[in-house]
Amino acid sequence: MKNIPWVVKPIVPEEVYTDREEFLEYFYKAALEAAHRRTMSTVLLGQRRMGKTEIFKRVVNRLFFEQDPKSPDSVVPVYFSFPDTIENKKDFALKYLENFMRYYLAFYTNQPDIITGNTKGEKLINLAKEIRPFFPFKKTLDLAIEWHDDIVKDYSVIPHQDALEVPRRISDLNDSTIVMFLDEFQNTRLPQYNFDIVGFMQEAVESPTCPHFVTGSAMSILAREIIGRGSLFGRFHGHDIKSLSGYWGTELAHKSACYYKIEVPETMAPVLSEKCGGNPFYINAVVHQAAELGQPVSNEKALNKILAVDITSGFIWGELNDQVTKWISRINEYNITKWILYLSALDENTEEENRGRLNIERIQQELLKREGKNVPLDTIRDVLIKLSRGDLLEYLELGGWFRRVKDPILLEFLKVWGRIEVEGHNHNLVQYDLESRYGKALKRFHEYKGYLAEVHMSQILISAQKKTLSGHYFNSEKDIEMPWRFIFVKNRMRLESGKGREIDVIAASGSEIWVCQSKWVTGKKIGIAPLKDLISQAEIVKKDLDPEKIQMWIFAHDGLTKQAQAFAEKHGIFWSKRQEFDELLEHLGLRKLPDL
Ligand SMILES: Nc1ncnc2c1ncn2[C@@H]1O[C@H](COP(=O)(O)OP(=O)(O)OP(=O)(O)O)[C@@H](O)[C@H]1O
Ligand SMILES: [Mg+2]
Repeated sequence: MKNIPWVVKPIVPEEVYTDREEFLEYFYKAALEAAHRRTMSTVLLGQRRMGKTEIFKRVVNRLFFEQDPKSPDSVVPVYFSFPDTIENKKDFALKYLENFMRYYLAFYTNQPDIITGNTKGEKLINLAKEIRPFFPFKKTLDLAIEWHDDIVKDYSVIPHQDALEVPRRISDLNDSTIVMFLDEFQNTRLPQYNFDIVGFMQEAVESPTCPHFVTGSAMSILAREIIGRGSLFGRFHGHDIKSLSGYWGTELAHKSACYYKIEVPETMAPVLSEKCGGNPFYINAVVHQAAELGQPVSNEKALNKILAVDITSGFIWGELNDQVTKWISRINEYNITKWILYLSALDENTEEENRGRLNIERIQQELLKREGKNVPLDTIRDVLIKLSRGDLLEYLELGGWFRRVKDPILLEFLKVWGRIEVEGHNHNLVQYDLESRYGKALKRFHEYKGYLAEVHMSQILISAQKKTLSGHYFNSEKDIEMPWRFIFVKNRMRLESGKGREIDVIAASGSEIWVCQSKWVTGKKIGIAPLKDLISQAEIVKKDLDPEKIQMWIFAHDGLTKQAQAFAEKHGIFWSKRQEFDELLEHLGLRKLPDL
């Protein structure tokens, strides 16, 4: 494993870590900008296992090792993760304050061991006193030692408030900069914390000398209950993190395959990423499982089988089972809760108007049928709200309705879990069922090479935002100004009027929509028919989304026939053959198409 210096150890090996550049840069720069008082407290919000914690840790390490602590513009990074069990206010206060002191001392004296060695209590204070003569801010160091003493000796009336405010007070007094990276922030809402944290954070987070960056694993609690209302409302800038793009998910599948030493062919990597919904944890889990089974991911069938094994008994099972069990054990009415969660995963609302909306009455009927219990609708609703706090389903608060999570693997897991844990079916049988169902599942992808190129096309659009591209890549006379920002870039999207037809790639900015098609055909040039097809797709887009401008683009591996070239020019269709496409990828710093 490659060695990168750290004060808080990341979990993902360097060889596997993929992308997330945008977030690493964003937080790194935002932290440095705090020295110029231009940074606001920020919350990083996203579904489970998207890599939020990894981002925080990596940024903290970079800030620690890549700055000169003697520079007046240097920024002290501090990482803290709110534990989910806590004894009392005093313990918490000491934990929080000592953690801060470790980073404070370590950063200015260039001694990472103070953090990694987890020096605590009296030892830490003695160390601070020893360091004092060499420390740039003696007065505030004395104060920190004094505040610590006050908490230890119970002189502090509200110890946790004092501890939470220390970083800000110190940076204010020194006119220095400290950036707090707080993880698992939702834990402050747990009943175990029978004292208020959030209320006392208001002062702390509003400081330009000490912005607080927070994240956590329960997005709904963070967004809705902590940041979205009450004393912290409006005090945070929000930043969202989503799944990896198809391109980066594909890269991760390759890196992971290399790390675990198992074969994932070029054409299967994008399929693997897609089936995992671009979730980095799932992608790693499936590749790791393939290695455990000694089963290369040679085709879609093999992939389905590995996925089925992992969901029913592998890494995904372990992780999600843990998550679900932890969460529902906190809710009273344990048995009903289990049933409601299971039934909510089964409830497929296909009525046109209510697509995706959970049907609470139907859940009630099922409960009666299966458990023989007549549970009032209000109780069901109440349980659903509690489940939504754990991100196990979505609660649309304003409309007062619920829907299933948009995480295909979690949904599949919940169905399997319900059969085993709720209905009491035999684990092996359920595993067998899923494996054979997945084995028989229809191929979702008909053209693997085409899909691979699609994934590259969408990444080109994402990476080219705000740029001007030479027309040469697209066989266009003029250079091309790419939109400033695409609101979405999607593969295989179906639009309402399209009668179920999929558009290979569609990318929409406020005024301009790109409609793209991928034809990985070798040995012959593409004729007019696919271009006509592309035009009819663009017409569907026009009808449904009514953009100011539509741009069509086709990837044709071996190019277009003479006739098709004339047709493309007449209709303003951009086209790229393999060579231009590869050049464009290189120009944008992306990997060229593989040789298949
Ligand atoms: N950029 C990445 N490259 C490769 N793997 C990643 C990446 N980010 C995350 N992972 C994988 O996902 C796992 C979860 O990452 P992490 O703990 O940072 O996610 P999280 O968003 O903090 O999750 P939670 O919501 O549970 O707190 C990692 O252990 C790793 O397997
Ligand atoms: Mg996390």
